[in-house]
Amino acid sequence: MSSDLLDILQARCLGNNQSLPAGCYTGEDMLKLEHEHVFGNGWVCLGRSDEIPQVGDFFTTTILDEPVLVVRDESAQVRVMSNVCRHRGMRLASGVGNTNRFRCPYHAWTYNLDGQLRNAPLMAGAVNKSECRLPALTTQCWGGFIFATLAADPLDLEAQLEPLQQEIQNYHLAEMHHLQTFEEVWNCNWKCLVENFIDGYHLSVVHPKSLKPLTPTNLCRKFAGDRAYTGYNAHYPDSAPERRGGHPDLTAKERRQSRLFCIFPALVVSVAADATAWLSLQPRGVDKVAVRWGLATSDSDLSDAEKRALIDKWQEINAEDHAILEQLQQGLNSSMFQGGALAPANFEGTVSEFHDYLIGCMQTGISQKSESGTTQASAIQ
Ligand code: FES
Ligand SMILES: [Fe+2]
Repeated sequence: MSSDLLDILQARCLGNNQSLPAGCYTGEDMLKLEHEHVFGNGWVCLGRSDEIPQVGDFFTTTILDEPVLVVRDESAQVRVMSNVCRHRGMRLASGVGNTNRFRCPYHAWTYNLDGQLRNAPLMAGAVNKSECRLPALTTQCWGGFIFATLAADPLDLEAQLEPLQQEIQNYHLAEMHHLQTFEEVWNCNWKCLVENFIDGYHLSVVHPKSLKPLTPTNLCRKFAGDRAYTGYNAHYPDSAPERRGGHPDLTAKERRQSRLFCIFPALVVSVAADATAWLSLQPRGVDKVAVRWGLATSDSDLSDAEKRALIDKWQEINAEDHAILEQLQQGLNSSMFQGGALAPANFEGTVSEFHDYLIGCMQTGISQKSESGTTQASAIQ
């Protein structure tokens, strides 16, 4: 894997527009570097803020291997904090719910919604409650999404996404209404799913019935990416029906295209006038990705039949991608695949920008480690 990574860096320096070598999708050492330099330093999307609209609403998830609670606290702020008891390490909560405190199922230590220890039975004087709380993660909300990071000194996410915000502002993504969330594990490398979602090249081939009539490949147009994101516009042919609903700010042109983008490293989103679909990804191995995905709608008052139709549509699209990506992973296990040329910018320029981002993360990580005295070269050999 080490030589693969170095090859990529060199190829990039030469400006080659190639897909990554197979080892980047199958190598354990690449995954280790991604944990450290991509996910460990980046912003990870955990879900939508209106999944937890009321004080005390929470859901549990993970950020890399860390179990976390995502909760709306007494001041109505979204908090992300460790889901591990400060006593002897029990996981505090599971699933989703509403509560006024978190009570450990092991010895009944209880915590307030802000993570402060409230009570430790039979331990008066043995633990200083005022100094004991669940560790909190740095959290930011953007576009109605909740992001958290494990980085000690993260870049400001909102500032980084300002150009994207301007690009899609008329859709009023933050005001869309949460419909449903799903959790799945797909048997492919996480990067394959990112690349697939931002690649307009496959739309007409993999989705001949579900998407080709609505967003055919030949009408895809990349928009300008930046350090923190990439994306493209999928224009609708004249034969496609009008989308109902949507914010009054939307122009006629905006009503006739979907905006698909990735907020690096691993949130992919499709925004249209009437609905948004999002998938937040985290690696669970070189060939396994946890997919937390959901739908949000501009209309808060859809009928049950309309909700069902939207869910069915996206389950159909995802099933088509899921099937192709599991076959792709098998192909990537071949020692004979070396990586081929990417399609022109409108179709796969986003993939190229994603690779630039990954390489930037690796280079930054390598130089930081070198400065701190540990050569990254030793980690990738
Ligand atoms: S581990 Fe939570 S109270 Fe003991
Ligand atoms: Fe697809």
